[in-house]
Amino acid sequence: MSKVLNVAIAGLGTVGAEVARQLIENADHFTHQSGRAVRIVAVSARDAEKARGFSMAGVDFCADALALASREDVDVVLELIGGEAGVAYDLVLGALKNGRHVITANKALLAHHGHALAQMAEEAGLTLAAEASVAGGIPVIKMLKESLAGNQITRITGILNGTCNYILSVMQHEHREFADVLAEAQKLGYAEADPSFDIDGIDAAHKLAILAAMGFGTAPALDAVAVRGIRDITRMDMENARDLGCTIRLLGEVERGDSGAISAEIRPILLPLESGLAKIDGALNAVSFAGAPIGAVTVVGPGAGAGATASAVLADVVDLAMGRHSPLFGVPAKSLKQGNSKTTNLSAPTPAHPPGRMEKHFIRLKVYDRPGVLADITAILRGHDISVESINQPSRAEDGVNGAVPVILTTHEVKPKAVAAATAEMAELEAVLAEPVIFPIYHGA
Ligand SMILES: NC(=O)c1ccc[n+]([C@@H]2O[C@H](COP(=O)([O-])OP(=O)(O)OC[C@H]3O[C@@H](n4cnc5c(N)ncnc54)[C@H](OP(=O)(O)O)[C@@H]3O)[C@@H](O)[C@H]2O)c1
Repeated sequence: MSKVLNVAIAGLGTVGAEVARQLIENADHFTHQSGRAVRIVAVSARDAEKARGFSMAGVDFCADALALASREDVDVVLELIGGEAGVAYDLVLGALKNGRHVITANKALLAHHGHALAQMAEEAGLTLAAEASVAGGIPVIKMLKESLAGNQITRITGILNGTCNYILSVMQHEHREFADVLAEAQKLGYAEADPSFDIDGIDAAHKLAILAAMGFGTAPALDAVAVRGIRDITRMDMENARDLGCTIRLLGEVERGDSGAISAEIRPILLPLESGLAKIDGALNAVSFAGAPIGAVTVVGPGAGAGATASAVLADVVDLAMGRHSPLFGVPAKSLKQGNSKTTNLSAPTPAHPPGRMEKHFIRLKVYDRPGVLADITAILRGHDISVESINQPSRAEDGVNGAVPVILTTHEVKPKAVAAATAEMAELEAVLAEPVIFPIYHGA
């Protein structure tokens, strides 16, 4: 490696432009911090003419991002384009094949191909680093790989998607409907024009798959993450949650059960208002690690945006410049265990929940307001050995059609499978007018 660290940046969007601006405008800081100069030699983006808001005089623009991978004057390629396939994948693969280090913020790429790419990098003695891929500006990857390396991690819990958290916290505090808040989030730039990646939980699942690999020493297994998003959450759900002293947040959880099996899920969940995670509002992220001997530790901060994400990318640049090097997943990629994935040849797929887990549940039903309906519902619950903690018919009109009213039930602790079976049976009742909506209530363990 030359005395100067020569950098190529692919992608000059929200993240890439801020990384480039920092490296150019604060060059002295990086020289001081790293003990050597860090210089951008080339960049790539789709539009060569687009103004990026700062001068890139003396920096080559490559119309073909893949050309960055084979330039003789490049030590490290910063892949800040995005996407699990296409140019981002080809660029990272090409850079590693050509002996270039890679830094990326691309969680989709790593959730899908991280294991193979990490193995490639390690076999070639190269760095593949991705602090920015999970929780943006919060240094959760460094924490897991370094600060918590002496712990047996048992569980990682997180609010991992700022867009969902923004939408849910505005719904909570401003008593508004999902679609209305989503439209506003799109106008404010908190949500993409096509928001499905965020609101359907896929982005959070990518991040959870990466954290699971780092925390539990398994190859990332996106297929093994059970995913439910936030599209079906209504203002009324939020109001009903409040009546129960709770709010709703999209939570990612991965844990090692007593049998050693690892379960991972992204799902909306009722959180007691007094819990720490319920207080995470707006586009913030929060991640809690539980393990021994530490007990539990939670970190909170900005999970996305130009500044937060650039901060994480730049930390990887400084590490590389200083010669600090660690495997992507904390341990050598070839030592990661397979077996947390439905795509492997295991006879039993990984369970979404730890097999023994019991949770309280919130169930919302839309029913005809007539005698006998509640008796039918409670009979079904009894048939599945589910005991009811509360039953409520809120005065809020559901939609006023045909005398339909909401019924809100909460259960005592019960296996999620039993609730699924009971609500499937309820849905068959003639008096039940819509698919029951179910949310778990946070067990907090
Ligand atoms: N934004 C965040 O808050 C955030 C947070 C954490 C992680 N990340 C990750 O960071 C990465 C970048 O995200 P972003 O938000 O910065 O994306 P973005 O704003 O959409 O920027 C993407 C950049 O890639 C360039 N690009 C697209 N296709 C290209 C191609 N074929 N060749 C060369 N350049 C190409 C675009 O060029 P033009 O500008 O010319 O169109 C643009 O500069 C993604 O992996 C994302 O998941 C983002």
